[in-house]
Amino acid sequence: MAHDFKTVLCGTDFTEHSYKALDYALRLAQLAQGVLIVAHGVHVLSDLFTGTEHVRTFAEGTRLAREKLAELHRTRLGGYAKTELVVDIGAPAELLIQLARDKNADVVVTATRGRSELVDLLLGSTAEKIIRHAPCPVFVVRDATA
Ligand SMILES: Nc1ncnc2c1ncn2[C@@H]1O[C@H](COP(=O)(O)OP(=O)(O)OP(=O)(O)O)[C@@H](O)[C@H]1O
Ligand SMILES: [Mg+2]
Repeated sequence: MAHDFKTVLCGTDFTEHSYKALDYALRLAQLAQGVLIVAHGVHVLSDLFTGTEHVRTFAEGTRLAREKLAELHRTRLGGYAKTELVVDIGAPAELLIQLARDKNADVVVTATRGRSELVDLLLGSTAEKIIRHAPCPVFVVRDATA
């Protein structure tokens, strides 16, 4: 088929919203036995704070993000073999749009929301920029409970 999803790109900010989008991304990749690229843009270090870990530098943030993606690969993605994990420093929307170009992605999968607490927000700023500027179709996952 002309529009198989051979290369599927999905960003995560390590929120449950983004994990729901990731479930769809995995399914789409599996359907075409394609490559799943999961990316995190290290931009606001507080995104990576956990109960005990305090991230002070971008180098530490990058290391922690790599660990979290590897764990996500084992747990939520069932170790799907054709997965690429990408961590880079910078604004997430720009990273995802650039990756979509560089990797020739067939689809970008995104949740409508991430870390923002603003429940009335229709679209987060990362999601909006991806929808506007991605070079390929975008699959948008709205969290019905949000
Ligand atoms: N740092 C990031 N790296 C990779 N993907 C991200 C990152 N931040 C957000 N995303 C992706 O974008 C989706 C939507 O998040 P977005 O940032 O647009 O919403 P928000 O955090 O609720 O709002 P805002 O960031 O505008 O305050 C997330 O579910 C995730 O899939
Ligand atoms: Mg955000």
